Amino acid sequence: MKSHDFANSKIIHKLKRIFNNGWRKPSVVMTGYLDRIGAGYVIENPEPLDFDFIPTELVCREDFQMKLAARFASIDKQEASCRAIITGPVGSGKTVLVKTFCRDLKRHLVNRRTINIAHVNCRNASTSTRVVQRILHAIDPGHPDRGLSIGELLLSLRKLTRRNSSHLIVILDEVDHMLRKSGDDILYQLLRIDEDQEGKGTLSLILVSQEQVLDVLETAVISRMGKTNLIKIPPYNENELYSIAMQRADLALVKGSYSDEIIRLIAQKSAPIGDARLAIELLKAAAESCEIRQDDHTDREISVDDVHAKDEILSVDMVSEIDAIEGLKPHAMLVLLAICRRLKKESSMTTGDVESLYAVVCEEYEQSMKSHTTLWKYLKELENRQLITTRISTVSGGRGRTTHLSMPHFLPSDIASRLEMLLKKRL
Ligand SMILES: Nc1ncnc2c1ncn2[C@@H]1O[C@H](COP(=O)(O)OP(=O)(O)OP(=O)(O)O)[C@@H](O)[C@H]1O
Ligand SMILES: [Mg+2]
Repeated sequence: MKSHDFANSKIIHKLKRIFNNGWRKPSVVMTGYLDRIGAGYVIENPEPLDFDFIPTELVCREDFQMKLAARFASIDKQEASCRAIITGPVGSGKTVLVKTFCRDLKRHLVNRRTINIAHVNCRNASTSTRVVQRILHAIDPGHPDRGLSIGELLLSLRKLTRRNSSHLIVILDEVDHMLRKSGDDILYQLLRIDEDQEGKGTLSLILVSQEQVLDVLETAVISRMGKTNLIKIPPYNENELYSIAMQRADLALVKGSYSDEIIRLIAQKSAPIGDARLAIELLKAAAESCEIRQDDHTDREISVDDVHAKDEILSVDMVSEIDAIEGLKPHAMLVLLAICRRLKKESSMTTGDVESLYAVVCEEYEQSMKSHTTLWKYLKELENRQLITTRISTVSGGRGRTTHLSMPHFLPSDIASRLEMLLKKRL
């Protein structure tokens, strides 16, 4: 027997032992329920559905990109350092605005000025020392910081940036956490980093915070940073949330798995808060819900039910179903029932549809229809109760205007079954 034959026979012997003793046939383990994972029926690329994902382009924020750029108009000059404060409500895109701005600026200034960026989230680094340590680590990951005082840390920071003749942009995100815990001293130390030293233009500072918090805590901070450097960004409206959700859907989902109406519904659901994160989260939840229920016979398209799949967890609904429909007149209920029956299947409908379906429901319940004007009054009431949302679109070509109804905050099938129960008693 040749030596490699001997080696082979030993391996075979070993394998046989493993097979006979420890190895189970895979068919015994039931993993069918995992088949949909990574199947990619609906989700082609999950990354853009993550909140940490930074899109190549921001949508609907040109104005604020311009305003921020204006605050940094002189940043290409070696001596210049700039400041900005960004405030705005939750999910209004503050972090992503600043991150994309610094990313783009760095590229834009290649060959003119070297820019280093230190993005520190003060929620996780709420003391001044922690903050400066994080900044140092961002530009020099191996920098020793044990036992160094704030003064020494700042000196290292200055030396490092000077040595490689770069400019450092420090972003203190969610800065209110640090202000609350350690006060605003460190801000002034950072702003004065060039004092008593030769040279200028070591460091620019961008503060980011949800506005209510910053206003209450430190109006002094704003005045020290320069009132004109304050950029207040508003919450997103429905159309902006639509564009943001659509951008993510285009990047992440299989073509044909989402319709304009479904993305509109998601935008309407997140519009009361104006939070882009919620819109993206709803899109992700809907896509996952659709993905997981796929088999060979299903429509590969996100449904109304998918959009509402995570309502309880995301707690996006402000009113309970019972409160919302309590005290409605019987015919308002019939109108709502007509709407729910259609919106179980479709994400939106026109007022014309409401009228004809209301006729059908009246026939079913043996009721004579109320007038056109009363019907409009009921629709207004349903809208005030946030049961429905309306959107007016102009038909291409100009003259006609259509009102589209949808139900972003409730699951139509739930409301319908509640109404059917109530109507039995009432009529
Ligand atoms: N204009 C936009 N275009 C594309 N994506 C956006 C836009 N605005 C926000 N987003 C996305 O929405 C999510 C929330 O945005 P971001 O984290 O910037 O909000 P924020 O204002 O910093 O919220 P918070 O107050 O909670 O810190 C992120 O995933 C972000 O990428
Ligand atoms: Mg943020």
